[in-house]
Amino acid sequence: MAGNSTHLDLLETDPLATGGRVFISTYGCQMNVNDTERMYALLEMANYTPVDSPELADVIIINSCSVREKPVHKVYSEVGKYKKLKDKKPHLRIGVGGCVGQQEKGQLIAKSPLIDFVFGTDNIDLLPSLVSRSRAIDLELPQREQKLVEAQFQHRAPYHVETLVRKPGVATFVNITKGCDNFCTFCVVPFTRGREKSRPLQHVLNDVRELTKRGVKEVTLLGQNVNSYQSECGADFADLMQTLARSTDLLRIRFTTSHPKDFNAKLVEVLERNQPKVCEYVHLPFQAGSSRVLELMNRGYTREEYLEKVQMIRRIMPNVVFSTDIIVGFPSETEADFQDTLALVKEVGFETIFAFKYSPRPLTKAAQFEDQVPEDVKDRRLQELFAAHDAQAMPMVTKYEGQILEVLVEGYDQNRGNLHGRTSQNKNVFFLGSEDLIGKLIPVKITKAFPATLRGEVVPPQ
Ligand code: 5AD
Ligand code: SF4
Repeated sequence: MAGNSTHLDLLETDPLATGGRVFISTYGCQMNVNDTERMYALLEMANYTPVDSPELADVIIINSCSVREKPVHKVYSEVGKYKKLKDKKPHLRIGVGGCVGQQEKGQLIAKSPLIDFVFGTDNIDLLPSLVSRSRAIDLELPQREQKLVEAQFQHRAPYHVETLVRKPGVATFVNITKGCDNFCTFCVVPFTRGREKSRPLQHVLNDVRELTKRGVKEVTLLGQNVNSYQSECGADFADLMQTLARSTDLLRIRFTTSHPKDFNAKLVEVLERNQPKVCEYVHLPFQAGSSRVLELMNRGYTREEYLEKVQMIRRIMPNVVFSTDIIVGFPSETEADFQDTLALVKEVGFETIFAFKYSPRPLTKAAQFEDQVPEDVKDRRLQELFAAHDAQAMPMVTKYEGQILEVLVEGYDQNRGNLHGRTSQNKNVFFLGSEDLIGKLIPVKITKAFPATLRGEVVPPQ
């Protein structure tokens, strides 16, 4: 296609210019997966069809995450893999979004001629217009850098977006906050996702009611720190939970991620009042077991305060299951600090841990700290941590054997030939049964526990 071709020229050579097939490659957490879902839904409204392979696509988007790994490098190497496709199909457009798009902006286009457009975490709604602009005319550098980059934070704009889920299924996710103001010293999120904003309670409520009309029985409320949710009308997170539990047809409510410093007694009371609708599962990252390290991390709580929160939650939900995030090898972490982390894991008894080696992130304070811990020490600590957790995790799940647990049936697994669903404690259970059970809460007797899943059989009605 010539550099000065017009929109009409393009329509003659490329009948898909006003629509086509789109593939999105996603890295990162549930928040990013949800963003991808929103991108697909927006593009579908603009006449695009999602496909599940880059070879079939007219537009490829990489939705990147930069919380932990070396993300920029990963993006360039993925883009490089599409070079042959682009040689074959000159009309193919490649875009980069998410955290890397936010951070690198036009530099991505300057460094890789294969990249056509870039957008940030706060500009997802501009995606359809960005894609069509990029397809309408074949811009050369540096015009692409000027015209096809949308990566400005919308600091003043309220967070007013409706939940877009194409096929919601039985259980789905609903964003309630975006961004983060906590500035933990290791974390890039405040820089890649901007200031914390909450959606109005009424919007969340309307979305959930719409979703339940489409068959949804369970939602997980999503945010970097759901506990600091604050609606324009004055409602806090506890009020939101209470409203959703009382005024919708949901069978179950989950939420993630919780911040220990903001998990308060009012919320605990609401959780107690709304059992069993509110699930007995709390993801409560502690990050480090030493109060000295926690202070350097700017987490806003001590080891003792964390343990008090755990006890406060356990008092009202004795069967609650905790999972957590942990970082090993934060700058200046000593062997004694690390032992505090191991001891905390043992003391709380987490069923699942998500543990990571500290990795310096651009713009964050900790990246400037002296006393960075050598890589081999981080490796060893991570392995020790996983080994310590493995040793205690199995007895925690074998205790389910013989128990009758309530399972929300989510679907049929073709590969296993089984129904599957989750317990309130977020354990995946597989069992035989007919598909008309999908969407129902049923009692299942657990016959065998594996590290990550349970097998069971449906308890027939008496
Ligand atoms: N290095 C390692 N782990 C990190 N996390 C966030 N930033 C970093 C970093 N720089 C982990 C934290 C957080 C989870 C989402 O990712 O444990 O809770
Ligand atoms: Fe990052 Fe801390 Fe915010 Fe979580 S609370 S997103 S770790 S800054």
